[in-house]
Amino acid sequence: MKYFIFLLCVLYTDATQYNDRPTIGVLSQETYSTQHLFPGENYTSFIAASYVKNIEASGARVVPILIGRNRSYYRELLGKINGVVFPGGATYFNQSNGYADAGQYIYEIAQELNDAGHHFPIFGTCLGFELLIILASGRGRIENRGLCYSYRSRPLSFTTDFRCSKMYAEMPDDVVNILRTQSVTVNAHQFCIFDENLRSHNLTNDWRVTSYSTDNYGVPFISSIEHRRYPFFGTQFHPETVSYEWRKTSDIPHTPDALTANRYFMDFFVKESRKNENLFPDKTEEDQHLIYNYAARFTGALGGYYEQIYVFEPREFVLNYK
Ligand SMILES: *[C@@H]1O[C@H](CO)[C@@H](O)[C@H](O)[C@H]1NC(C)=O
Ligand SMILES: *[C@@H]1O[C@H](CO)[C@@H](O)[C@H](O)[C@H]1NC(C)=O
Ligand SMILES: *[C@@H]1O[C@H](CO)[C@@H](O)[C@H](O)[C@H]1NC(C)=O
Ligand SMILES: *[C@@H]1O[C@H](CO)[C@@H](O)[C@H](O)[C@H]1NC(C)=O
Repeated sequence: MKYFIFLLCVLYTDATQYNDRPTIGVLSQETYSTQHLFPGENYTSFIAASYVKNIEASGARVVPILIGRNRSYYRELLGKINGVVFPGGATYFNQSNGYADAGQYIYEIAQELNDAGHHFPIFGTCLGFELLIILASGRGRIENRGLCYSYRSRPLSFTTDFRCSKMYAEMPDDVVNILRTQSVTVNAHQFCIFDENLRSHNLTNDWRVTSYSTDNYGVPFISSIEHRRYPFFGTQFHPETVSYEWRKTSDIPHTPDALTANRYFMDFFVKESRKNENLFPDKTEEDQHLIYNYAARFTGALGGYYEQIYVFEPREFVLNYK
């Protein structure tokens, strides 16, 4: 006897505009993990070039978003770009004028834009994924995430209704199959979001868990998630690494299957950003903001974690600025 399980998905239909010149803002972060590479240069923030290249490969241009600014800076910029990526990395969420404060402005402004009918997507990777959940929880003295130890590539264990999600509804079966059966998602994190983190902060109605993975000790954690109403998406793993990061001491697969599967995530996100119609008012202003104004530096050769990074602003500038 055969049983058929019918899963009824409420299909996701929203914005109808189509923007074929999307620009994505990438949030910079404090230099804890990179400052030692350029002693004496006093940079205030950086962006790993792998995020930039991964977005460019999906057909969008990148605008760096600086930290340490006031709300109007983020409000104005979000009115000109079509989506934001919160990259992974390493910094503290409990200090002022950094990645977490900027992330909070962006998260709140993006909610306002979406509430007003402007499709404005956010994608968080690793630290950025944790930031999304912590912002949704309300930042407090205790950060809503748990400790774990996850430094291996892993397969994804999809939830039963993952095909009902925005992120996975249109993923080709062969890509699902790679993600499900091969260790191709790259993990490098000491904090995890567990089911309990969602339950304790009443996030289960707003956020849909779409997959789990396990850490080095076999402990399951949430590996991909999305907001049910807002176009906010997160992966605890790092899709940008497989094509663009080559450090041998990190467990990063570079097989054709790993490349195919990880390519999907930013392609999906840039597609989301095409539903946003924002524009820079003119080419001059657009040119002033693009990442092309900066030169990537080869940090892999200096023993850095990333092959290349972009660095922004000597510290003095920002101190005077505030
Ligand atoms: C960096 O900061 C140090 C200490 O404030 C200062 O001595 C040095 O001149 C600065 N370097 C640059 C390139 O601004
Ligand atoms: C915010 O910063 C901008 C510079 O980015 C400055 O021009 C503006 O006066 C500041 N606004 C407030 C309300 O402090
Ligand atoms: C921020 O968090 C770090 C790591 O948990 C801790 O060492 C530091 O004391 C905290 N800082 C503040 C201002 O609470
Ligand atoms: C979660 O919801 C319950 C019931 O509505 C409420 O009592 C509780 O305070 C909420 N917890 C948080 C962290 O918001």
